[in-house]
Amino acid sequence: MTDAGPASAPAPEAPADARPAPAAPRAAAEEVVVLDYGGQYSQLIARRVRELGVFSELLPHHVGAAAVAARRPKALILSGGPASVYAPEAPRLDSALLELGIPVLGICYGMQLITLALGGRVEGAEVGEFGRSQLTVTEPGRLLAGLPAEQSCWMSHRDTVFAPPPGFQALASSTASPVAALESTERGIYGIQFHPEVVHTPYGQQILERFLTDVAGCERTWSAASIVDEQVARIRAQVGDGRVICGLSGGVDSSVAALLVHRAVGDQLTCVFVDHGLMRKDEGQQVIAAFRDTFHVPLVAVDAEDRFLTALAGVTEPERKRKIIGAEFIRVFEEEAARLEGADFLVQGTLYSDVIESGGGTGTATIKSHHNVGGLPDDLEFDLVEPLRTLFKDEVRAVGAELGLPDRLVWRQPFPGPGLAIRIVGGEATRERLETLREADAILQDEIRGAGLYRELWQSFCVLPDIRTVGVQGDERTYGSVVVIRAVTSDDAMTADWARLPYDLLEQIASRMINEIREVNRVVLDITSKPPGTIEWE
Ligand code: XMP
Repeated sequence: MTDAGPASAPAPEAPADARPAPAAPRAAAEEVVVLDYGGQYSQLIARRVRELGVFSELLPHHVGAAAVAARRPKALILSGGPASVYAPEAPRLDSALLELGIPVLGICYGMQLITLALGGRVEGAEVGEFGRSQLTVTEPGRLLAGLPAEQSCWMSHRDTVFAPPPGFQALASSTASPVAALESTERGIYGIQFHPEVVHTPYGQQILERFLTDVAGCERTWSAASIVDEQVARIRAQVGDGRVICGLSGGVDSSVAALLVHRAVGDQLTCVFVDHGLMRKDEGQQVIAAFRDTFHVPLVAVDAEDRFLTALAGVTEPERKRKIIGAEFIRVFEEEAARLEGADFLVQGTLYSDVIESGGGTGTATIKSHHNVGGLPDDLEFDLVEPLRTLFKDEVRAVGAELGLPDRLVWRQPFPGPGLAIRIVGGEATRERLETLREADAILQDEIRGAGLYRELWQSFCVLPDIRTVGVQGDERTYGSVVVIRAVTSDDAMTADWARLPYDLLEQIASRMINEIREVNRVVLDITSKPPGTIEWE
């Protein structure tokens, strides 16, 4: 997939009568199912498979062989997991999974399950093997053919395979694993003890590629372009002649979802962009320009700044701010939706990670619940169109680029629904304070982009605490505002580290803020990671 695509307008939509037949129930022409036994890296396996051009979905291990077979996958991968195969509560292998007539690759716990089920020897070893390990290929077989006899790999296990099942060939050993890889080409069953999906296994991706291509015969046609084709077909099949409404926030998810729907059903879509006056500098205009002027998407832009600021008057408590903004947003959106007669469908930018998290029961859902603030309630009477439901964030970006979305929107850092209001800390979000914060934020973004660091950072923003400090400027005593710089690196916002911005850059940012914004006389840097801090201050 490419990171950036041509900035072309989308292709003209097909006439209604030329719509293709409903798409197949699954998302892609060929698919590899990853069964999740609870491993830390299970999602990553699916991502790596997709990077190799094969659509892959992660399913919980208990779905059963029939559910897997119904998807007609080209291959099955059994993930790692934290349990010992001998623990009473440990997830078991449904042996029918090995009889589906498709190749199976067991990784770590997955390999141990296969070994145990087919009569090999798995035992708890005295020492575990965690981290980097040395792999010695003794018999390359089919899976490891052409790879170096000595290579490093990443391990994370305590139980160990001591003997492969009858009829299986041991392919490799490692520092603490007598059997670190095995296969039976006859049965189409393969196993590796190490983790090919992590970057610390340098040949991992090649091994997965070997499995997908040589073993499973995948054609590897899945790409940003094929996602667009598939989703367009699915949306047309779902929506028919219906009318669709989409709440556009300017974030990459809602933008890409809207563009996909527009490409599928053209002017049957109307986007509603609610400008609550809590956006960053020029953000509203950029969204309007991209959608209305470049893509010619029917767009209702609502300038609701006064409404939101009136509702927020006198409010200092963060949760109250969030609730008021959320409730006001829904009210404005519903009013606009009511004006659009007969809309049957609502577009939502739900991502695959949301789907996994809400079904995974890993506890992540509770932490993320506040993200729905600024979203829409469940009881709106629309059918949902969710074209990003099978995609990871980086794939959404690739699709956005494929559709010609400007880089600025494709690569936009996450921005909270309640906007700048929750970055005016301990105080009321007044028009004046919002203006100060917006100017400071614009300087920060400008300098970060200028230094080429914007994409490396998960988020970079300013916080305006409701305090004033003493300073001296031009022989005069000042009593002004403090701006906090918050810049973090992260993979998923669940944890984050403060970004080590260069001192010279920080100096440039601070000096610009103090010189260019009259109200600001002090700039400080937040060096708290998450945990113990959160990314936002409120
Ligand atoms: P925290 O502050 O919890 O933030 O570490 C994690 C991520 O969530 C974003 N965030 C929000 N997003 N509505 C949103 O849509 C909210 O109320 C909200 N609060 C935090 C935050 O920017 C970060 O990316």
